[in-house]
Amino acid sequence: MALHSDIERVLLNEVEISSLVSNVAEQITKDLSSSSDPVTIVGVATGAFMFLADIVRKIEVPFSVDLIRVESYGSGTESNGKPRISSDLKIDVRGKHVILVEDIVDTGNTLAILISHLESKGACSISVCTFLDKPSRRKIRVRLLGDGKFYRGFECKDEFVVGYGMDFAEKYRNLPYVGILKPHIFNK
Ligand code: PRP
Ligand code: MN
Ligand code: MG
Repeated sequence: MALHSDIERVLLNEVEISSLVSNVAEQITKDLSSSSDPVTIVGVATGAFMFLADIVRKIEVPFSVDLIRVESYGSGTESNGKPRISSDLKIDVRGKHVILVEDIVDTGNTLAILISHLESKGACSISVCTFLDKPSRRKIRVRLLGDGKFYRGFECKDEFVVGYGMDFAEKYRNLPYVGILKPHIFNK
């Protein structure tokens, strides 16, 4: 696929993405294989849809899959600090081990809301599996629950990444690579 004209450069190409996803899936498979407790993998819509589809095909233990929708950025580039759950789970996660799947953890606000929410629903552990992690932007520490773990594919700098599920104003989610957006696109 030709590079989109709004993209400055590719941060992770399809081959690199696939290998990062395999690494994380392998760790999760290893961590889950010693237990027969029920596991639910929860993708955070919309951004996580592509990573979710890729990683669930590589985790080799049984689990159920659900989606939850949280929104915090609207059409801008900055989190407004108050993410809102706009579509809840279908599956009852009481007594289940939950793995939250995200495309990116930035300020941590989205995860903070979600983890409290899943805790109140009675999940017995909460892990986080994020494709990208931007720790330099963190405002709230990621608080896991029970013996939950934090998995990440790749740590990135504070650059505006899009593609592989991630958007700017709902665009670029379909790009099969992670790209850095040209500054004039998000500054205008
Ligand atoms: C993005 C991204 C994460 C969240 C991370 O979602 O997909 O869910 O922001 O940011 P945070 O750590 O600062 O909370 P967004 O709210 O843009 O919704 P989307 O997934 O529909 O794009
Ligand atoms: Mn999101
Ligand atoms: Mg977004």
